[in-house]
Amino acid sequence: MTLALKTICVICAICGLIVVLCHAQSDTFFSEWRPNADTRGIRFVGNKACVDCHPREATQLTTPMAQALEVAPDCRIVTARGRLTFRNGPYTYELARKGESVIYSVTDGVKTIAKPVLYCFGQGHVGQTYIFRHNDMLYETRVSYFQKLRELDFTIGHRTSVPTSLEDALGRAIGGDEPQQCFGCHTTGAVNGLELKLDRLSPGVGCEACHGPGEKHLVAMKEKRFDEPQIFNPGGLGAHELSQSFCGTCHTSFEQTMLLPGQSSINNIRFQPYRMFNSRGHNTNDPRISCLACHNPHEKLQKDTSYYDSKCLACHLTTAKETKTERRNAAACPVSTKKCATCHMPKVELRGMHAEFTDHWIRIAKPNEPPPR
Ligand code: HEC
Ligand code: HEC
Ligand code: HEC
Ligand code: HEC
Ligand code: HEC
Ligand code: HEC
Ligand code: HEC
Repeated sequence: MTLALKTICVICAICGLIVVLCHAQSDTFFSEWRPNADTRGIRFVGNKACVDCHPREATQLTTPMAQALEVAPDCRIVTARGRLTFRNGPYTYELARKGESVIYSVTDGVKTIAKPVLYCFGQGHVGQTYIFRHNDMLYETRVSYFQKLRELDFTIGHRTSVPTSLEDALGRAIGGDEPQQCFGCHTTGAVNGLELKLDRLSPGVGCEACHGPGEKHLVAMKEKRFDEPQIFNPGGLGAHELSQSFCGTCHTSFEQTMLLPGQSSINNIRFQPYRMFNSRGHNTNDPRISCLACHNPHEKLQKDTSYYDSKCLACHLTTAKETKTERRNAAACPVSTKKCATCHMPKVELRGMHAEFTDHWIRIAKPNEPPPR
């Protein structure tokens, strides 16, 4: 064999080996984990096991994300309020704690339908919607709790007209693959691909909703096999992929928004990845503008506007006089050197949602102009 051929053979052998190794790697664990992804039979171990070894990330369990759903006996809002009522035409609604249960009932004065609530969706600082079973289907209540009103009002997307019957007054059946989607975004471990397994549900977006099931990681770490942690670390994703495909799986990416029938509704203000994607200058693969640049998913949302200034100034000059560098070269603001987000990421109150959302479409927002869609 000539030297050249030999070299090629050696290279091929190395390439082949790498290919084999890569395959082995992706077969034994996910190359990229998505919420609702196929778990390949690997079991979930629960938050407690994770924080025993990772106490630093335990703060995640107190975030709204970790509390995005409660099972009915634990619904804190209903416990605190005891009883909530609402009236629409001849129909009276009641949501009340009765012992261990939470009962949702609607009456027209003659007939009443009363159902035990199964799940409370939404941590409640914006609002909470209730899920119950009726006619063998999961239903969403026609009325929801809104923190700003401190009472019940129409659930977002439901008709506000007077219902045509008691059945109609009750709520909306969640059909098709919608239950998988709801539980996929608000819980951990209940969805495997397209299957919904409510008996395996762990409430809220816990560790394994983002990192994937931990069974193999647990074993590997106990056996001190640190070179193959067998758990997904989203920190390894590129900025664009992290924002759009990872956080965007639940917070709604640009692509997902384009598939929605009401895509151009102003309600898409709640889809931060979509809004950011549309933002001139900020739709890049630069980690300084990924969701992680401004939000640590293991910690509570920062409410202090000044916290975000340094994030903007990682790219933007503070004043026009400053010299541009290779890294910091975006235009300076002619108006202010601080509290950037208050003017360029204004808060928008959505009709019917009784709450303000932060517009992630960074731009020069004109006071009297409605936000772009
Ligand atoms: C027995 C202790 C132990 C338990 C239980 C445990 N971990 Fe770990 N984990 C470790 C150690 C040690 C490392 C560091 C490994 C290394 O050096 O790369 C680690 C690393 C990680 C990483 C980073 C992996 C990487 O590729 O950089 C993530 C993410 C993680 N753990 C998440 C979790 C989650 C989620 C759970 C619960 C399902 C969990 N861990 C349970 C010990 C544990
Ligand atoms: C499995 C679905 C899921 C994934 C993945 C996810 N989120 Fe969330 N997130 C939610 C839900 C649901 C809520 C709403 C909680 C509530 O208010 O009930 C939320 C709320 C939040 C909040 C608001 C907290 C507050 O105080 O109002 C922030 C910030 C956030 N997520 C950031 C992120 C970031 C950053 C990522 C990606 C690293 C991410 N999320 C990935 C489901 C998810
Ligand atoms: C694609 C993922 C996804 C699906 C599907 C989903 N949610 Fe959510 N939900 C979220 C996120 C993300 C938030 C937080 C929105 C924010 O603060 O930006 C949220 C917030 C909420 C809230 C708090 C109030 C609010 O509007 O912020 C309620 C209540 C809620 N969801 C109920 C439901 C119900 C009921 C279903 C199913 C019928 C459902 N969600 C389906 C991701 C999802
Ligand atoms: C909403 C999604 C989400 C949830 C829920 C979540 N994480 Fe993470 N986690 C991430 C992301 C994103 C990163 C990458 C962070 C980075 O690189 O800055 C990460 C990184 C980590 C790491 C690696 C830290 C390092 O220094 O490299 C550990 C360990 C970890 N998470 C443990 C946990 C534990 C334990 C929980 C539950 C208490 C949890 N995570 C819940 C998204 C999440
Ligand atoms: C340049 C900084 C920045 C980046 C990047 C960023 N955010 Fe935010 N985000 C903010 C600010 C500022 C707030 C408002 C905080 C406050 O005052 O309550 C916020 C609030 C939120 C909230 C709470 C709900 C609301 O509307 O107020 C969610 C959820 C959220 N961001 C998700 C995301 C996701 C997902 C990404 C990635 C696509 C992302 N953010 C990227 C700055 C940022
Ligand atoms: C990754 C770097 C980066 C970060 C982080 C960043 N920007 Fe920008 N921004 C740019 C670039 C690049 C442009 C477009 C080119 C230019 O004008 O220099 C831009 C444009 C803008 C514009 C003009 C938009 C228009 O439509 O004319 C505003 C306003 C702005 N950014 C504000 C902010 C604010 C406020 C923050 C923090 C919340 C921020 N930016 C964070 C890079 C960044
Ligand atoms: C009080 C509201 C306010 C605050 C706070 C503010 N800006 Fe601005 N910014 C504006 C307005 C208004 C304009 C448009 C000025 C014009 O066109 O003459 C602007 C313009 C800009 C532009 C476009 C400049 C250009 O030449 O195209 C950028 C970039 C920008 N701001 C970034 C920032 C950053 C970064 C911060 C924080 C350090 C910030 N802004 C704080 C109101 C504000």
